[in-house]
Amino acid sequence: MVTFPGGTSLEKPQIIRDILRTMEGMVEKGRLHALPTTVYPPRETVDAFRFLSSAKHIGKVVIDYTDLVGLQGVEKVVAKPEIDPTGAYLISGGFGGLGLETAEWLLRSGAKTIVLTGRKASGNEVVNNRIEVWRKNGNRIEERYFDITHEKSLQDCIGDFGENLPPLKGVFHCASIFDDALIENITAERLRMGLGAKAEGARLLDALTKSIPLDFFVLFSSVTTLTGNIGQSAYIAANEVLNQICENRRKQNLAALSLNLGPIANVGILSRNQVAADALRTAGMNLLDIDYILHFLPDLIQQGCAQITVADIDWEQWFRVVPLVSDLSRFTAMHHLIDNLESTSETMVALLGLPEEDRLEFLIERLKSIIAKTLHLQDDAVDNNAKLSELGLDSLAGVELQTGIRIEFGIEVSAMMFSKDDSIRSLARKFYTQIQAKILILTHEKSV
Ligand SMILES: NC(=O)c1ccc[n+]([C@@H]2O[C@H](COP(=O)([O-])OP(=O)(O)OC[C@H]3O[C@@H](n4cnc5c(N)ncnc54)[C@H](OP(=O)(O)O)[C@@H]3O)[C@@H](O)[C@H]2O)c1
Repeated sequence: MVTFPGGTSLEKPQIIRDILRTMEGMVEKGRLHALPTTVYPPRETVDAFRFLSSAKHIGKVVIDYTDLVGLQGVEKVVAKPEIDPTGAYLISGGFGGLGLETAEWLLRSGAKTIVLTGRKASGNEVVNNRIEVWRKNGNRIEERYFDITHEKSLQDCIGDFGENLPPLKGVFHCASIFDDALIENITAERLRMGLGAKAEGARLLDALTKSIPLDFFVLFSSVTTLTGNIGQSAYIAANEVLNQICENRRKQNLAALSLNLGPIANVGILSRNQVAADALRTAGMNLLDIDYILHFLPDLIQQGCAQITVADIDWEQWFRVVPLVSDLSRFTAMHHLIDNLESTSETMVALLGLPEEDRLEFLIERLKSIIAKTLHLQDDAVDNNAKLSELGLDSLAGVELQTGIRIEFGIEVSAMMFSKDDSIRSLARKFYTQIQAKILILTHEKSV
């Protein structure tokens, strides 16, 4: 979000767009120049800061992470925390998928008292039975219902530890709401909601427990803070707040770990959204077992890092689906993978083998198949002459379609190309020229 004296890019998108376009034009014409820079490799970061503090520099001092030669990691180990049977543990979003698994792991590891919080009682019989079994096994499981962003309610809840409950030893923040949308569809209200439970909840948990000596302060963040993801700007922003809260806490020697998790199988949000789980898998994000991760949680905390990412990613596939990511300097060490990305897809190999007069029909059929997959329809339920608007292709599905075209044909098409009045046939004709150019390049490469 860009902010200027008259408002933000969310409130005045047209004005901000105009300003940025004007500036873009000035840069292109050479009337605006980037500030001069003094560049240091990462192994000379200390020197870079010294130079900065000497105030002799003009423009920007930049650490360029493309050259990692000579860079060494330093092991920073802290004490491995243990679960204390005489202490108590607080789980926000405790009735959700990961919240309940965290409770299960805590109990298995020796905890006796757990406070689960959420906005409302779970109407789910399986969840209630599970909690009952834990109680029958001699554990104290408290259920508290309030909005985690309501400071007074949270304060009252935390005030109970050491009074009506054993002392608080660990906080696990799992509360979150999920509301994916492309950036142009995010309103200020949606942004507030997206940041609410997760970011504001974390801020309050941090502030209200600062004076309590905790063994665990674990915030459930997401790998998307590293990799980005289409339609998740608000969610990613909220998760980044969690990362920064833990960075701050670590600097103050307070317990803190922001766990940047990859997608989780079987429980939680993705177990309720098969479509999103499949899309992530296709993009190269393999689903993880939360039980396995929690088992290693104390070891992860022992690393002494404020944030740790646990994800299983097929990078080659991820870079192919989200190509902009591959240019980020944080992925420099993986850049050798990109060389493999130029491989020709099966679809393009098949297209190359066809006589020229059959190629357009083949393209139309493949495009129909990609659109059907995007909209979760059978191929034969889609008519080549139906307009995209009749098929229900919205802007988010448009991004998926772009990705499908990129994977199958190895070409970039702009989402602006997808007009509501287009049929599959007319859309295929629109980018056939790009395909022909690609065929020419591939034919040339084969002949040399
Ligand atoms: N599942 C994954 O694949 C995955 C991957 C990476 C990171 N994570 C992170 O892990 C955490 C847990 O995810 P999950 O999959 O277990 O989600 P989940 O099943 O939807 O659980 C989230 C819980 O948060 C509660 N909640 C929402 N707003 C709240 C509020 N204002 N105050 C209090 N509680 C609130 C919800 O309960 P009520 O609606 O009843 O309040 C819900 O039970 C999230 O932060 C998520 O971003 C999950």
